[in-house]
Amino acid sequence: MTHAVYAVSENGRAAQPQDSPAQLAVLPERGTLRSVAIVGLGYVGLPTALGLHDSSLTVFGIDVSGHRLAAIRAGTVDLVAADQERLGDALTDTDFHLTDDAADVAMADAVIICVPTPLDRHLTPHLRPLSSACRAVVEHARPGQTIILTSTSFAGTARELLAEPLEKRGFTIGTDIYVAFSPERIDPGVPNHTQHATPRVVGGVSAECTARATEVLQRLTSSVHPVSSPEAAEMTKLYENTFRAVTLALANEFAEICGTMSLDPIEVTLAAATKPYGFLASFPGPGVGGHCIPCDPHYLLWQLRRLRRNAPITETAMASIAARPKHVVDRAGEVLSDAARGLRGSRVLVVGVSYKPGVQDLRESSALEILVELKRRGAEVSYHDPLIPHITLPDGSRLSSEPQPHGRDWDLAVMHTLHPGFDYQWVKACPRVLDGTYRFEAVPHRAVV
Ligand SMILES: NC(=O)c1ccc[n+]([C@@H]2O[C@H](COP(=O)([O-])OP(=O)(O)OC[C@H]3O[C@@H](n4cnc5c(N)ncnc54)[C@H](O)[C@@H]3O)[C@@H](O)[C@H]2O)c1
Repeated sequence: MTHAVYAVSENGRAAQPQDSPAQLAVLPERGTLRSVAIVGLGYVGLPTALGLHDSSLTVFGIDVSGHRLAAIRAGTVDLVAADQERLGDALTDTDFHLTDDAADVAMADAVIICVPTPLDRHLTPHLRPLSSACRAVVEHARPGQTIILTSTSFAGTARELLAEPLEKRGFTIGTDIYVAFSPERIDPGVPNHTQHATPRVVGGVSAECTARATEVLQRLTSSVHPVSSPEAAEMTKLYENTFRAVTLALANEFAEICGTMSLDPIEVTLAAATKPYGFLASFPGPGVGGHCIPCDPHYLLWQLRRLRRNAPITETAMASIAARPKHVVDRAGEVLSDAARGLRGSRVLVVGVSYKPGVQDLRESSALEILVELKRRGAEVSYHDPLIPHITLPDGSRLSSEPQPHGRDWDLAVMHTLHPGFDYQWVKACPRVLDGTYRFEAVPHRAVV
């Protein structure tokens, strides 16, 4: 079937954004995908661009940050080894373009938007990056394109920020342009969780939108699960990450319960995980971080407030997660007081500051809040992280990683993140170790959070 409405030339340039759709003539068939624009080349967008380039598509990587583009061109970005190799190949290929010019959206048959969706300091969605990226995509969209939003956001975002403004430009969604939402499930720093092996959920504004978006996503993954609308796909992501937040809050609570009863929470969790159905293991830790778990459920809660609805389980889980770093500091105080010391004046080393092992990502890392709170209570703080040479704390102060720490130089080591491939045996010499990871068994004199 030909959608005989608008013309798109071989290189996709014939239809200019300023043209009204009615000035144009024949739409591309399904199965003619040759190029894709990725808007936002961060932890999600860059591996996505590399995956699509690997599948023989011409890729236009678009990012507003000159700094980010320079780091990508220099190959100094934080990627797993396989992606580093793919980036090296892509950078030498004429089919891989990097630009800060959003007008290049018009060059591509498909557009994938993966810009950040953070919170402001009132835990309210900070939508400016997403609104401005969607505005640019709408402005430069051309007939025949498939536009997929992948940034995590509230249910209704793809319709509100893409479909409705495109309709105002004169497009008919599902006939001459295609809009869908497909949440991203990438797991940065974990080489086994590849995009290819991770199923994608997709919901289009119409069945044709879902079909066109599926065609794009099949370049990235072997399994695509369609749902009935973009809102269903948006809510799927919010449910996944709210589920994770609730189970992590519960895992932390159980760890504290086990501590009260002198039981090992990891032993208990691993034993529970032998049940082949109805239990999914989550492990306690020093706090959650990153761009997803501490943020995404607040997109849901924000939307529910507007709808005058509450979600007590989600709210309690998020409050519990937010309180975790202070609990770590309370425990640090207890461990020191058991040795007749206090936090004030004690030298405390936080080991590992990224939010999870194997990444250089500090966003929302609980280590930052732990360091600030330790300082506030009078401790002399330092940190060691082989992947992160310098940090700026939320209070504005800067610290540099202790390059070769000696255990004896500190009164207490707080284990926050253990990166794979590094030796932490030196911690043995530290007189007191508080293990926020629950997995650091190298020392006998260890207490857990
Ligand atoms: N990082 C993860 O583990 C992960 C996993 C699943 C889903 N997500 C979701 O994916 C989305 C992107 O997250 P991320 O971690 O890749 O973010 P990121 O901060 O690593 O990268 C976003 C990139 O977008 C660029 N950008 C911002 N505004 C732009 C604009 N208007 N036009 C073009 N580029 C722009 C930034 O310069 C940055 O390079 C978020 O919604 C996040 O919740 C993230």
